[in-house]
Amino acid sequence: MSSLIFVQLLLLGLRVISTTTDTWRHCTDIFPLDLLSFVLERDTSKLAPGVHMKQAGEMRGVHFSSPHSSLSFPSSQVLANCDLFPKEFSVVVTLRVSHLAQKRNEYILSLIGPKTEEKSTLNDYGDLLESNKKRSATAGEQRGKTRRNKERKVKSNEERGRIILGLRLSKKCLHFLFKGHGGVVEHWVFRGTKLADNQWHTLVLTITREYVSLTVDCQAPVQIVPTRPFPSDLNIQGSRFHIGNRGRWKGLFSGMLRQLVLVPGMDVSHQICPSPNSQPATLSVPPLLLDLPVKKKEGDSHPTSYEKEERVSVGLERSCSELLQGQLWFNPLKKGLYLCDGSEWITVLEDHKRLDYVMEHQVLTTSSETHDVEVFQVPGMGLMAAMAHRSKASGSAVYLWTHAQFSLYQNISTHEALAWRHFYIGKKIFLVVSNSGGGPYNRLNKELENEFSVIYKWSKKRKQFVRFQSLQTYCARDWEAFVINRQTYLAVANHRQGMAILRSNQNLCIKILHFSLWFVFQVITITL
Ligand SMILES: *[C@@H]1O[C@H](CO)[C@@H](O)[C@H](O)[C@H]1NC(C)=O
Repeated sequence: MSSLIFVQLLLLGLRVISTTTDTWRHCTDIFPLDLLSFVLERDTSKLAPGVHMKQAGEMRGVHFSSPHSSLSFPSSQVLANCDLFPKEFSVVVTLRVSHLAQKRNEYILSLIGPKTEEKSTLNDYGDLLESNKKRSATAGEQRGKTRRNKERKVKSNEERGRIILGLRLSKKCLHFLFKGHGGVVEHWVFRGTKLADNQWHTLVLTITREYVSLTVDCQAPVQIVPTRPFPSDLNIQGSRFHIGNRGRWKGLFSGMLRQLVLVPGMDVSHQICPSPNSQPATLSVPPLLLDLPVKKKEGDSHPTSYEKEERVSVGLERSCSELLQGQLWFNPLKKGLYLCDGSEWITVLEDHKRLDYVMEHQVLTTSSETHDVEVFQVPGMGLMAAMAHRSKASGSAVYLWTHAQFSLYQNISTHEALAWRHFYIGKKIFLVVSNSGGGPYNRLNKELENEFSVIYKWSKKRKQFVRFQSLQTYCARDWEAFVINRQTYLAVANHRQGMAILRSNQNLCIKILHFSLWFVFQVITITL
């Protein structure tokens, strides 16, 4: 009876989850989205059309010569599985604006909604040009204009309707614009953001429910208090990000971009600027821009001193490729230093946090990496610990607490063991272990070869755990044992194929000696 209720509750819970996914979803993942890398690394063999790599000062950036369609990509590629723009976020930009080249109103970033008209496709280059000729004012400037011409009105509504979000730089201000309440484009203006001085600057724009702030080069942030908060229902379905432009010639960014990162759900200004007036830290710069090209001149194979300096980069995320071989990366969050060997990062140093209120009692060296520890009592023996070791060769082991420390008691052959669980049926003690790697037991059956679990029973006579039964599981990550109505159940969380609850097929409290196999009582599939 109670098991039925339990199952019903579970199913009810699942149904609730599935109905809420029908509604529009917010983007809830919190990790930095390197938008510039997204454009640059689409094809690592060559730069996208309209993109030029330039060096200024001691750093590299990209310059855009046209609002080419390759500088845009669907928002769904970075903000996956959601329809609404994050309610809170940060944008980190490192840019350089030249004094001579700076025109007015240049877009660093824009998010443009889908066109409603059938005939026009978003990437149509000619269309961009044409619409540019027809339209001269920006969406925001249009708001106050009278609408005499009907056709123009339709067009302007459509135009205005298409910009979902934009980051725009004018001579003295940074503008943040977005489709606000009722579909009207709203502007937040940060005055006095004068950047045209041929220097690199790092800007952190943070939008939260409580405040909106802009930090330039880690100086005191400029805060504005908007009358209405940033909308929580900004629909981004079918929209596209445009980097360095707004999908047309007008507003093309004429400076250089080095870093453009969107961080949903988080204010990263403190990560970028740990203290006022500090040097801005880097969150994520496309690897292409990190290293200066090694110029192989005849008879000159030594890198210049500057190239040596550039070999340590600082940031939260880096990719390692052949181009970056020998490059060091310092991750300030992990306090780790890594070396790129041409394909992956090798840890040079990493800070391991120690809990200062826990004293070290024993360092137990195990035969391989340990995935799980299960501690339990065995009457007549004392405290034992089963450890799930990764290595197939040495298998896992059970340790016994003697002389105030754990020592190896029994080796148990496992295959990339993931989890142990102990359980009692009456006075009998059992252990179940899940394997994730191939074992010899099911060699004939290819399907079953990889993942299975084994139940062991404690033999009082032999004072050892002995193999009792093996079970087909699917990369089981965790086990739980429980008793309902004097029946023992085992629940297994499979990595694939759904969860299962297993029940022994006899009333075990009475007839322990004859209890035989476990069978799957119910399979629950949970899709996350
Ligand atoms: C367990 O296996 C290791 C080798 O992996 C061996 O050195 C050790 O003696 C074994 N211990 C027991 C209790 O069987």
